[in-house]
Amino acid sequence: MGILEDVKSRIEIAELIEQYVQINLSGQNYRGLCPFHEERTPSFFIFPQTKSWRCFGACADGGDGISFIMKIENLTFKDALGFLAKQFGLNIRLTQPNRSLTPLQEAHEAATIYYQNYLKESQEGKEAFEYLLNRGLHPETINNFKLGLSPTGRQTLKGHLISKGFKERELMEAGLIKKSQNGFSYDMFNGRIMFPIQDISSFTIGFGARSMSNEIEPKYINSPKTPLFDKGSTLYGIDKANESIRNSGTGVIVEGYMDVITAHQFGFKNVIASMGTSLTSNQVNQLSSIGNEYILALDADAAGKEATIRSLENAWKTFEVPASKINGNLAGRIKKTSVRIATLPNGTDPDNFIQQNPDAWNYLISEAKTIIDFLLEVLPKRYDLSSNDGKLQVAERFGILLLQIDDAETQDYVLEQLEVMLDVKRHTLHEILGINRQALIQKARRDKTKVEKVEGYAAGFSNNSSSPIEDYVLSLLLQNPDLAVEVSEAKYLLFQNSENRAIFLAILSGSIININSIVEGGLERLKLFSLPPMDIQQKKEALNQCLQRLEKHNIQSLTLLESTLLDEDKSNLEESKILDTVRQHHSRLKELFLSTSNEKGIN
Ligand code: GTP
Ligand code: MN
Repeated sequence: MGILEDVKSRIEIAELIEQYVQINLSGQNYRGLCPFHEERTPSFFIFPQTKSWRCFGACADGGDGISFIMKIENLTFKDALGFLAKQFGLNIRLTQPNRSLTPLQEAHEAATIYYQNYLKESQEGKEAFEYLLNRGLHPETINNFKLGLSPTGRQTLKGHLISKGFKERELMEAGLIKKSQNGFSYDMFNGRIMFPIQDISSFTIGFGARSMSNEIEPKYINSPKTPLFDKGSTLYGIDKANESIRNSGTGVIVEGYMDVITAHQFGFKNVIASMGTSLTSNQVNQLSSIGNEYILALDADAAGKEATIRSLENAWKTFEVPASKINGNLAGRIKKTSVRIATLPNGTDPDNFIQQNPDAWNYLISEAKTIIDFLLEVLPKRYDLSSNDGKLQVAERFGILLLQIDDAETQDYVLEQLEVMLDVKRHTLHEILGINRQALIQKARRDKTKVEKVEGYAAGFSNNSSSPIEDYVLSLLLQNPDLAVEVSEAKYLLFQNSENRAIFLAILSGSIININSIVEGGLERLKLFSLPPMDIQQKKEALNQCLQRLEKHNIQSLTLLESTLLDEDKSNLEESKILDTVRQHHSRLKELFLSTSNEKGIN
């Protein structure tokens, strides 16, 4: 038996969770207050028969013992496995015993020093140094962040590292060199200011490289995705900001390398950057394990972008409620993370804002708005509120957010704002957001009796695995690495099996090697799984169909589970807000809004 099976077989789910949550028997199952969000009515259930747990409240999450430990102890799949193995006294070794650096790490360390030296010692380095000084950086800052310069001339990083014994193959894998069409390999970075990107232990895992002139496009070239580096799971400056965030509980997230560097130079040591993309759940998880309050400093441009707004709407769920709202004895154990948004004045970014007026930075940060307030400010501007259609769209977007808010005060506040904004009466809003649980449950029962037709490109997939669709998605992704960009990381919630979740996340973050040693045979099976011949478009469709079916299955089984729970225990589950109700409310909302606004002639 492998480690995974061994650990799984030993988990007594109720005993395990009881260490964290006070639970009571409820029928054949256990019930308690969810440890992952604040609630008064228990909506957290443990199902000993299936060795699983589920929260029917705000988190709408569930899984097995391993996923519980991952979530509550904030661990990766691998570390959770190690954690549990230790509890059961299993003698396993999941990590390499050898703490020395891998060739890829060694190559990055050597490249960092090479670029640093080139900046300090070469003729073209003088000019680059001058550029950095002109941008307001002190020599100590340049040293502290290990900034460097990549050469343009005949001197190359490749030549240097090969002479130090590195293999061409290693440098290629490290993303430090690349092949040209004629098959010859050359340096990835030429004539650019080099920003080493360091992990939390200050090892270089990749580089950001900036051109020194506006004529040279693109402005930045970043290291490609490598076994060490993936921008979705990297936070620039984390090694330097870690301690400050841990001590104060608060961190500030900016966009650019220069923003981080300038902030640190001026003593704002809790600043990190998200690598120019919106935050991924992986980054949020890392941040949540360090601090409990983050401020996103957005320049005015980004703050107005639809993509930013969408990502903040999604982030709402991930970040949950502010730590200050948590009461009771669980407060010490569970870290809730809150996020606020600070918008910079038009035309400035944190770098030049701080350079111009360092004293105003703390004020700007202290004035940051909650996501709700930020959305209340920016969303209405995007729609025509003089039309019914515009009102409906705004209501829809806030409706979804509202259903995820589980504190009455905030709900009331949003409703109040909506009343004014949409010019509708409170009772109309109540009607719009009202729910008829019994009808929903009955509908779910009817849906369950319908035999689901397997159709489209996912047809022909066998049904003998415990979660065939999960397997299918993973096979598609493993066999077609290019498809990974099509999938949002947030979809990990669709995977009920924690092992599959971990594989899914590993595929998206490009760190599949890390997981290969754990799943034992699982990956081979998925890699070899025979898929029907499909072109790329068909593969994308198959992927989307499967994800949709996964979602549908999840919603159906959730609703069913909930209705059996209701039969078993008539006490109040009404307060729970599960995923399916969120979705069904969404369409209900649309229906109701249309009918009420027509009736009452809102225009
Ligand atoms: P400066 O212009 O030197 O102040 O750089 P910055 O660090 O402030 O960058 P900016 O605010 O323009 O962009 C924010 C981040 O987005 C950068 O730090 C990069 O990570 C990323 N970025 C910006 N431009 C590019 C680009 O052309 N290509 C890529 N791959 N990333 C970019
Ligand atoms: Mn900038």
